[in-house]
Amino acid sequence: MGKDVIVACDFSDARQTFEFLDKFGASRPFVKIGMELFYAEGPEIVRKIKERGHRIFLDLKLHDIPNTVKKAMAVLSRLDVDMTNLHAGGGVEMMRYALEGLTRPDGTRPILIAVTMLTSISETAMQNELGIMGRLPDTVMRYATNARLAGLDGVVCSPLEAQIVHEQCGSGFLTVTPGVRFAGGDAGDQKRVMTPAEAKKIGSDYIVVGRPITAAPDPEEAYLRCVRDFIS
Ligand code: C5P
Repeated sequence: MGKDVIVACDFSDARQTFEFLDKFGASRPFVKIGMELFYAEGPEIVRKIKERGHRIFLDLKLHDIPNTVKKAMAVLSRLDVDMTNLHAGGGVEMMRYALEGLTRPDGTRPILIAVTMLTSISETAMQNELGIMGRLPDTVMRYATNARLAGLDGVVCSPLEAQIVHEQCGSGFLTVTPGVRFAGGDAGDQKRVMTPAEAKKIGSDYIVVGRPITAAPDPEEAYLRCVRDFIS
């Protein structure tokens, strides 16, 4: 499992997605498909993108009772995605069941990572609305440790958390980090950002990059710049 740049295809339909992917020449980036596109177009969009030679991170963030998640994961594994995810908040048993469901008869399976605390949740909201007392970073680390315990491959986290996740969960535990911007680039709604080179330095395993690539005049050039800065 090597380092890679994952392009967030945050489009609402297949037409826009393929218009974007058509801008790539020889490179076939690892792409992230989220709820919006998947719910709009169904599993067919995954098959079509896969046919073009892309690896796929299916970002559906499952969260339900263990048995339901296990059965849903079994369906997703048959779609032949390369990475998928769930909410660590569903608990260790749910995560264990998810892994069981995801594993194919030949023993292979997509990479499974957990979302810890959503970055949209502040510490105050975590305490007052969710009733989880204590500090937010401690909850993030508790969720990451639970994911490790359940046998998952890693977590989605802020680049700023990647180092501590590796320290506590081991260097082989994957950190998949959004919030990446080129130096001087528009941060948009992201609060805490890092450049691809900084993300490399702090040890992120995968960076998830959306607008710096999707909104670039030349998306392939922006993608290759990310690859150069992050991997080589
Ligand atoms: O356009 P941008 O580079 O900000 O896109 C980042 C991608 O990563 C989006 O698909 C966003 O939903 C996702 N993401 C995030 N922060 C998280 C989890 C996922 O930005 N904590």
